[in-house]
Amino acid sequence: MATTLVMQLMLLLLLPVTRVSAQEQQQVVRPGCRDKCGNITIPYPFGIGDGCFRNDGRGGFELECNDSRSTPRLTVAGNGIRITSLSIIASEARALLRATRRCYDSKGRITGRSGDTSVPLIGSHYLFSQARNRLVALGCSNLGYFVDIAGYYVSGCMAVCGPQQFIELGSCTGVACCQSTIPPAIDYYEPYVLDFTKEQTNKGIVSYSNSTTCRYVFLAE
Ligand SMILES: *[C@@H]1O[C@H](CO)[C@@H](O)[C@H](O)[C@H]1NC(C)=O
Ligand SMILES: *[C@@H]1O[C@H](CO)[C@@H](O)[C@H](O)[C@H]1NC(C)=O
Ligand SMILES: *[C@@H]1O[C@H](CO)[C@@H](O)[C@H](O)[C@H]1NC(C)=O
Repeated sequence: MATTLVMQLMLLLLLPVTRVSAQEQQQVVRPGCRDKCGNITIPYPFGIGDGCFRNDGRGGFELECNDSRSTPRLTVAGNGIRITSLSIIASEARALLRATRRCYDSKGRITGRSGDTSVPLIGSHYLFSQARNRLVALGCSNLGYFVDIAGYYVSGCMAVCGPQQFIELGSCTGVACCQSTIPPAIDYYEPYVLDFTKEQTNKGIVSYSNSTTCRYVFLAE
C-alpha cells in the first residue's frame, strides 16, 4: 500500500448562473479549434487556445492538452486539475485528484506523506458534486476529513481497526474504511488525515493491532 493512489472524482460544472445556450448544448466545437485531447472530447464553452473557450473572467473553461505524454493529458488552465471527461448535457466533469497519504512506523512517526494540496474551486465554474462524490478514509486508525477555506470541518469519518468479519470487500462501512457524504455547493477542499496514538487507542474503541502502515483520505466517485 505504499503507492500513491489517484482517485476518480466528479466535479459538478456550470452553476445555474452559467446557463449554456442551445447552440452550446449541441457540443459544437468552434471552427479552427481542437475538439479532442487524446480521446477526450472538448465541447464549447470549453476549449484549448485563444478564442476557443468562453472567456468570462472566471476560471475553468480554458483547458490545456499536453501531447508529449504517452497518454495526452487534459488539464484546467490555471489550476492544473486533470480532466478525464466532460459532459455539457450532464453538467459534469470527471477529474483525477491525488489521494492524501500518510505512512507511519511502529512508533507512530510519519515516514511518508503525499497529496497534501488543497483544491480551491472558489469563483470558478466548478463545484464538487454532492450526488457523485463521497469522502473516503482508508486504512486504520484514521480520521479522514476536509475543511473549507475558513478552516471549518466540512465532512469526514473515522476508519477503525477491527476484526476482519466486519470488513466486506468493496463495502467501506467503518472498519478499516469509511465514507461520508458531502454537502452541496462545495468549492474548496483541504484534506486531513488524523492518526491516533497508542494512549488514545488503549482507552476506547480504537484498536491499535492490525493498524495499516499507510492511511488515505480522498474524494471518490
Ligand atoms: C480513453 O483512453 C484511456 C487511456 O488510454 C482509456 O482508459 C479510456 O477507456 C478511453 N476512453 C474512451 C471513451 O475511449
Ligand atoms: C508535458 O508533459 C511532459 C512529460 O511529463 C513534461 O515534461 C512537460 O513539462 C509537460 N508540458 C507542459 C507544457 O506542461
Ligand atoms: C487482527 O487480524 C487477525 C488476522 O486477520 C485477526 O484474527 C484478529 O482478530 C485481528 N485483531 C483485532 C484486534 O482486530
